[in-house]
Amino acid sequence: MTIPVLTIDGPSGAGKGTVSRLVSKKLGWNYLDSGSIYRSLAIALQKLSVSVTDVTAVTEVASSMVLEFECGDELVVKLKGENITVQLGLETTGSIASQVAAYPEVRKVLLKKQQDFRQLPGLVADGRDMGTVVFPEAEHKVFLTASAEKRAARRYKQLIEKEIDANIVEITNEIEARDRRDRERETAPLVMAENALYIDSSDLTIDQVVEEVLNLIR
Ligand code: C5P
Repeated sequence: MTIPVLTIDGPSGAGKGTVSRLVSKKLGWNYLDSGSIYRSLAIALQKLSVSVTDVTAVTEVASSMVLEFECGDELVVKLKGENITVQLGLETTGSIASQVAAYPEVRKVLLKKQQDFRQLPGLVADGRDMGTVVFPEAEHKVFLTASAEKRAARRYKQLIEKEIDANIVEITNEIEARDRRDRERETAPLVMAENALYIDSSDLTIDQVVEEVLNLIR
């Protein structure tokens, strides 16, 4: 029996995380936030003082890191038993993550860790290459995007709500730099899968996006 997978790919701040979590709850399926794996690697590198330019060392850390995910109301991530959820959300973490995510060796090592999330009764997987590389055979695929201004404004709001210091100009610059890196890298760049449903969430509410995604499954 094949385990169903719904992939939701798109640039940062498009609402993938929120939508994926809500959809996975409605369906009773498991949830993979693949960005949090790259972000956890970024934190592990910082803790071990490994340079992001040292591909061999970065790949070694990627293959040996021990992660635990607790998917309650909020996603809790532990690295070697330590709760790293707060650091995970920082913009600098995302920036380091996108630098090391460009290494093919790193992506290869993290591939199986992501595919292991495919468990019954189904999986909602959010990221950049879920529908193109990690689960190319998924029967339901979505590409979720929004204008750069809307994405920066949402990220800003998210950080302020979490009481993390934020500056809208810096966030816009960081989001644009990260998107450029994610779209232009050679391995698993951010592109829309051929058979994906395209949704622009700029002028939609979260509930409207969730409804569109659920319609695809129904
Ligand atoms: O989605 P999130 O913003 O948490 O991802 C952080 C970074 O991890 C992205 O900017 C991207 O470079 C990388 N990433 C990736 N492939 C994925 C998920 C995230 O390269 N499937």
